Amino acid sequence: MTIDKQLVWVRDPNEGFLLARLQELMGEEADVFPVDNKYPKRVVSFDDIFPAGDPAKDVDDNCELMFLNEATLLNNMLIRYKKRKIYTYVANILLAVNPYEDIPDMYSPSTIKKYHGRSLGELPPHVFAIADKAFRDMKALKQSQSIIVSGESGAGKTESTKYILKYLCELWAKSAGPVEQKILDANPILEAFGNAKTTRNNNSSRFGKFMEVHFNNKYQVVGGHISHYLLEKSRICTQSSEERNYHVFYLLCAGAPQELRAALKITKPDDYLYLKNGCTQYFTTPQSGKKISASQMSKQHQTKGGLRDPILDDVEDFQRLHLALSRVGLTEEEKRSVYSVVAAVLHLGNVEFEEEGGARGGCRVSPHSEGELQVAAGLLGVEAGELRMALVSRLMQSSRGGMKGTAIMVPLKTYEAQNARDALAKAVYSRLFDFIVHRINTSIPFQASSYYIGVLDIAGFEYFQMNSFEQFCINYCNEKLQQFFNERILKNEQELYRREGLHVPEIRFVDNQDCIDLIESKNHGIFHILDEESKLPKPEFSHFTHAIHKELGANNSRLQVPRASRLKAHRTLRDDEGFLLRHFAGAVCYNTQLMDKLKENGTNFVRCIKPNSRMVGGEIEGSLVLTQLQCSGTISVLALMEHGYPSRAPFNDLHQMYNQYLPPKLQSLSPKVFCQAIVHSFGLSDKDYKFGVTRVFFRPGKYSEFDTMMRSDPENLKSIVDAVLAWLVKSRWRRAVFSVLSIIKLKNKILYRRECLITIQKSVRGYLVRRAHRPRYKGIAKIRALENNLKEMDSVTAQLKKEKDSAKKNIENLRNSIRSACATIKGNAKISRTEIDQLYNKLTKEIESQMAALQKSMIDQKNREEQERLRRLEAELRLAEEAKRKEAERLRQEEENRRLKAEMEARRKAEEAERLRQEEQDRRAAEILQKQMEDAARADLENRERLEQERRDHEMAVRLAKETNGHVEGSPPQLRRSERVRMQQALQGKQKYDLSKWKYSELRDTINTSCDIELLEACRHEFHRRLKVYHAWKAKNARKSTMADQERAPQSIMDAAKSPRVQQKGEILGARHRYFRIPFVRAGDGANDKRGWWYAHFDGQYVARQMELHADKTPVLLQAGIDDMQMCELNTMDRPTDLRTRYQEVLVYKVQNVELSDVPYS
Ligand SMILES: Nc1ncnc2c1ncn2[C@@H]1O[C@H](COP(=O)(O)OP(=O)(O)O)[C@@H](O)[C@H]1O
Ligand SMILES: [Mg+2]
Repeated sequence: MTIDKQLVWVRDPNEGFLLARLQELMGEEADVFPVDNKYPKRVVSFDDIFPAGDPAKDVDDNCELMFLNEATLLNNMLIRYKKRKIYTYVANILLAVNPYEDIPDMYSPSTIKKYHGRSLGELPPHVFAIADKAFRDMKALKQSQSIIVSGESGAGKTESTKYILKYLCELWAKSAGPVEQKILDANPILEAFGNAKTTRNNNSSRFGKFMEVHFNNKYQVVGGHISHYLLEKSRICTQSSEERNYHVFYLLCAGAPQELRAALKITKPDDYLYLKNGCTQYFTTPQSGKKISASQMSKQHQTKGGLRDPILDDVEDFQRLHLALSRVGLTEEEKRSVYSVVAAVLHLGNVEFEEEGGARGGCRVSPHSEGELQVAAGLLGVEAGELRMALVSRLMQSSRGGMKGTAIMVPLKTYEAQNARDALAKAVYSRLFDFIVHRINTSIPFQASSYYIGVLDIAGFEYFQMNSFEQFCINYCNEKLQQFFNERILKNEQELYRREGLHVPEIRFVDNQDCIDLIESKNHGIFHILDEESKLPKPEFSHFTHAIHKELGANNSRLQVPRASRLKAHRTLRDDEGFLLRHFAGAVCYNTQLMDKLKENGTNFVRCIKPNSRMVGGEIEGSLVLTQLQCSGTISVLALMEHGYPSRAPFNDLHQMYNQYLPPKLQSLSPKVFCQAIVHSFGLSDKDYKFGVTRVFFRPGKYSEFDTMMRSDPENLKSIVDAVLAWLVKSRWRRAVFSVLSIIKLKNKILYRRECLITIQKSVRGYLVRRAHRPRYKGIAKIRALENNLKEMDSVTAQLKKEKDSAKKNIENLRNSIRSACATIKGNAKISRTEIDQLYNKLTKEIESQMAALQKSMIDQKNREEQERLRRLEAELRLAEEAKRKEAERLRQEEENRRLKAEMEARRKAEEAERLRQEEQDRRAAEILQKQMEDAARADLENRERLEQERRDHEMAVRLAKETNGHVEGSPPQLRRSERVRMQQALQGKQKYDLSKWKYSELRDTINTSCDIELLEACRHEFHRRLKVYHAWKAKNARKSTMADQERAPQSIMDAAKSPRVQQKGEILGARHRYFRIPFVRAGDGANDKRGWWYAHFDGQYVARQMELHADKTPVLLQAGIDDMQMCELNTMDRPTDLRTRYQEVLVYKVQNVELSDVPYS
C-alpha cells in the first residue's frame, strides 16, 4: 500500500533517529527513504517508526510537541542544543544538556532576576525556573523541597547544583550575611577533596552530596547543611592511566608554596605510588603553567604539557582552596594539618615491604622506604615504630585458649601488608574528607529553620568493565533513586489521576523493585549474603559468589553469571569470580535516611544529559542522548504526560493566590466555584485542564498561561473580571435553567412514583382482599363445580333403564343443597375456611354416595348388557372359528382329496390300462369261452331239445300209458347243470374248508369272532354264496333296472353281476375299504319314479354297509352282520371293473359327507 510519503522518524543505531519518508507499508514493517541521501532506503519495524510532526520546530516543553514520542523528544533536544538552548521540560522535569562552554548571560544576575517569581513555562526552560518553582512550592505548600539532579558522570550535575544554590542564595540570602558565601565556598573545598579527573569528566565528583538551604518562616535563608555519601576510596590508591587521583594531591604538588611543599616533603606526582600510575599532568592555564618549576612536573607533564579545562587550574585552585578553607573557619594551623594528612597519604603509599625471611613468614618495611615511613609517621603525628608495627602485623584478640583477651601480633605477608597500608591510606583520607565536610557545616551559621530546599547531586551511575563494591553501592543507591523517581512521578501521579477521577490511561514503566529486593532483601539479599560471608572465619570471594548464584541466581532474570555478558572481558571470568546485575541503567544513590527525607519533601527533578563523550561544546550525539533519556525514565514520563496533567493546584490554593487580584464580589465565592469561574472564563480549551475532586489540573504549560493572565496589568485584569462575571451570570442562568428543569423532572418523577405507588397499593389491596376472601370464592367455585358432577349424574341417569325417576329426584335435591350452600357462603362474610370445607365435604360425600349408587346401577346394567354382548360375541367368535377351522379342514381335505384323487386317477389309469388289457384278454377268453359256451349252448340246446324231445316223448308215453294203462319206462330226463355251476362247485371243492354244511348262524358267529383269516374268508364266501343264492331266488320276479323296496341294490348292479366274472387275483393293495355311489330310480307310478343314491362300503370284497338316500324319505342304512338278509350280496369280485367304470367309486369323504362314517360299524 502506498501512502502520501509522510515524514517519520525511524530508529537508527548511530543517530538515534533518522528523518525519513514512508514509502510502502507492509505487514509489520514499512519501506522508508531517509531524507538525508547519505542513507539508503531501508525496511523498518513499525515499533521503530514514529510520526515526525514538524521536525524543524522546537518547543520549550516537550509535552507541547504535536506528537509525543522518544523521536520527537530527541529531535527537539538536538535542534535546540544546536541553537544553544540547552534546557527543555518534560512537564515539570527539567532536561539539561551539558554545553561544555559558557553561554553568555546564561547564569548572570540579570537572568536570576528575570526568573524570580515566574512560574514554570512562563520563560524559556532554565535550571533557575526549577529553583524558583521549588521555592514557590515550598512557600505555597509549606513543605520542604528537594531538587534531584541526576545524570551520567560529566552530564553537568555538579554545575547545575551550583547554579541552583547560587540562585537560591542570590535571591534570598543577601540579608543573611555570610551564609550565602559559606554555602558557595563549600564547593571549591569539596571539589578539591572529592573531585577527580576521570575519562568522562575532568572534574568528576567522586561522592554524592545533599546540600540543604534552610529558610525561616519569612522565607529567608537562615542556614545550610551538607551531607555527603559514598566517597570513592579506591581512587586514593589506584587510578587508570587516563584518570587522576583527587585534585587536592595535584593542587599541593603544583600550587602549594615552596616552603609548604618542603615541609611536607612534596615533590612531583611521579614520585608517589598513589599518583604515578595514573595521569600525572596538571590542569593549567598558559599563565599558571609558568608558575610551576620543572622539579614539580612529572615526566608526562613535561612532555605533554598541562591539561586544559576552563574551570580547572591546579595552581590557582590551591589558592582558592586555601582561601575557602580559611573562610569556613580553619586556622592556619588546621589548614597545615589538613595538608599534612594529604601529604602523609602520599608518603604512606610509598612505604614498601619485603619478605622478612625466618620462621614467621612475615614481612618488613623495605629499608629504602624507611624514610617514607618516617615522614608519613611524622606528618600523621604518630610513632614511626607503631606505624611500622601496625603495617606489618595485625592484632589478634584470642577468644579461646590461653588467657581471654590476650592480644597477639600476627605477622602479615608482603601482599597483606600492602593491603593494610592501602586500607590505612583510604581510612585516613576519608576521615579527612568527613572532617572537612563537618567543618564546612559548622561554619555555616544556622538559625531555627522552618523549611529547606535540598539539592541532591548524585554521584553518577557508573559502569566500568569491572565494578568494585563501592560502585556496587553507588549503583544500588541509584536504583533506589530511580525507584523514588518512578514512584513520585509515575506511580503517584497515576494514583492521583485515579483519585481525582481524571480518566488518564495507564502508563507502564519498568519497575525496578525486584532489583532493589535482590540487593537489600533482609534474608537473602546480596548485602545479607555479604554480611554472612564476612562473619566466616575465612571469607572467600569464590564462596561468596557461589552463594549469590546459588541463593539468587536460580530464577532471577536480573542476576547472571559473567559468561552471559556481551562484554568479552566479562566472559573470561569464571562463574565464581563475579556476577552480572541488570540495573535499570542510569542515575545515583544514597542511604535510606536520605530516601525518607526525599519522600517527605516536594520533589523536583533535573535530568542532566551528556551530549557527547568527547566533552566538547557544540557537538551532540543522538544515540548517546537517547540512551540517557531512556535510562532516566524520561521517556516513560513523556508517555505519561502525553495524557497527563503535570500542573495542578488545589482549589483552596488557587483561591488564596488570586483572591487579592479580584474584586470583593468574586472573592466571596467558594474556592471551587471561584476556580471554575476563572478557569472557564479564560476560554482555555477543554483539553487543557480538568477539574478533579479537590484540585484543578492543567496540561503542560497551561497553568503558567493561566498564571500570567491572572497577574497581568489592571486593564487586562478588568477584562478577565468582566469575563468571570459574565461566566458567573451565564453559569447562574444555566444553573437556574438546570434547576427548573430538575424540578420539572422531579415533579414528573413524583407523579410517576405516585402512579407507581397507586399501582403497588391497588395490587397489594387486591392481593389482601383476594387473600381474605379466597376461601369463600374458592369454596363457592369448588361447590359450584360440583354441579358438573350433577350434570354427569344427569347424563348417567338418562341412560338408566330402571329407577330413573327416583334418581332424578335425588339429583334435584342435591342441586338444591348446592344452591343453599353457596347462598350460605355468600351471605356470611365471616364464614371460616373450615366451615366452608365442611359444607363442601358434606356435599361431596352426598354426591359421591349418590353417584356411587348411580354408577352401581349403571354398572349392573352395563354388566348385563356387556355379558349379553360378550356372549354374542363369543358365539360369533366361535362360529367364525369353527368356520375357519372348517375351512381349514376343507382345504386340507380338498388337498388330501386332490392328492387321493390324483392317486386314484393314477390308479384308475393303471387299472384302465389293466382293464383294457384284461378286457382284451377277457374278450379273447370270452370269445373262446363264447365259442365254448356256444358250443356248450348248442350242445346244451341240442341236449335240451333232445331232452325236450325225450320229455315230450316221455309225456307222450305217459299219456299214452295212461290212456293205455301202460307202463312208462325210466324217469323223465334231468336237466343238466350248467357248465358254470359246475365250474363253481369245482372251485369250491378246492377250498380248504367245506362250509356247505354249516348253519347260517355258525357262519355269522365265525365271521364276528374268528381270528383265522382263511376261515374267516371262507365263512364270508360261504355266507355270501348263500346270500346270493337267496337273492337270486328272490330276484326271479323282479323288474329290471328298478329297485324294488325289498331290493337292496339297484337292478343294474344286479344285472352287471350276472355277466361272467373274472376271478380277481387277490385284493388291490391299500384298497380294502372302497366306497361306491350309484344313482338309482325306484319304481313309482311312471313319471313319479323316485330317484336316489345308493352307497356301498366294501370291506374287502363284501359290502360292509350300504345306504340308500332318497329325496323324500329317511335314508336306509344297512350293516353287515345285522341286516345281512336285506343287504346286497354283490361283492367286488362281481364285475369289479363295471362297478368302477359304470358307477362312481366315491372317495371316503364323499361318503362321510353323507355321514356314512358316523354310523357305527361293529
Ligand atoms: N551549564 C554549564 N555550562 C557550561 N559548562 C558546563 C555546564 N555544565 C557542565 N559544564 C561542563 O561540564 C563539566 C562537567 O560537569 P559536572 O557538573 O562536573 O558533571 P557531573 O557532576 O555530572 O559529573 C564541567 O566541568 C563543565 O566544564
Ligand atoms: Mg559532579
